[in-house]
Amino acid sequence: MKGVILAGGLGTRLYPLTYATNKHLLPVYNKPMIYYPVQTLVNAGIKEILIVVSGPHSGHFINVLKNGKELGIKHLEYAYQEKANGGIADALALAKDFADKQPITVILGDNTTDADISDGVNKFKDGALVFLKKVVDPYRFGVARFDPINEGKIVEIIEKPKNPPSDFAVTGLYIYDQQVFEFIRGCDPNYIGRGELEITQVNNFYINKQMLRWAKLNGHWLDAGTFDTLLAANQYWAKKLINIKKI
Ligand code: DAU
Repeated sequence: MKGVILAGGLGTRLYPLTYATNKHLLPVYNKPMIYYPVQTLVNAGIKEILIVVSGPHSGHFINVLKNGKELGIKHLEYAYQEKANGGIADALALAKDFADKQPITVILGDNTTDADISDGVNKFKDGALVFLKKVVDPYRFGVARFDPINEGKIVEIIEKPKNPPSDFAVTGLYIYDQQVFEFIRGCDPNYIGRGELEITQVNNFYINKQMLRWAKLNGHWLDAGTFDTLLAANQYWAKKLINIKKI
């Protein structure tokens, strides 16, 4: 399977850190943030990767990742999202030709995890698969609402709910079949009023077609889009990598 890393957006929540470079190139302990999603894909056997970039520092990605060989990537492509904050689904639309009608694994560039997603990747057939993680602050994420009778079934995903219907956040890891590009075309930039094409709307299209499945993300998971979560990601990975070095 091929993989897509979405690393567009302006990172405004991290100003002034993102005045001089892109959010996904900021350090998370001893590596630029983008190395972590690359490693998650490569560890799952995904070595053909498209990275979607945007904004004034897009060129910096090539300085850091080059052709990807040092990180185990066999084939690396870049795409440029013209509307820097057009939304996650807007960025993903650029992967249509790269996907070439095959399923794709998608990961957000500010998500770091030590989970192994290879089982989900290897068993994927069609529809969509989202990875969920229990969190203490679900209001910050897309949140799953489960069927009260059939508890394992997601009936809706709500983006940044004021009253979260569960503690299960939809992480920034997804696997989609080729229908995703058709669903993106149906997205409304005013879906939750922030002028972006929302991946949550795409996921709800799959739910309406009874074609969305989910798996628990077995491992530590953090996004790093704010000062606090960037600090938490640094602390987690520093501790983990220092402990590994001691063994
Ligand atoms: O981290 C998981 C959460 O990510 C999910 O639970 C939410 O459902 C999903 O909407 C998203 O929420 P955020 O509001 O945290 O997304 P954010 O705008 O921070 O964007 C996350 C990444 O997506 C960012 O690091 C790069 C990529 N992105 C984002 C935008 C807005 C793009 O490539 N282009 C964009 O236009």
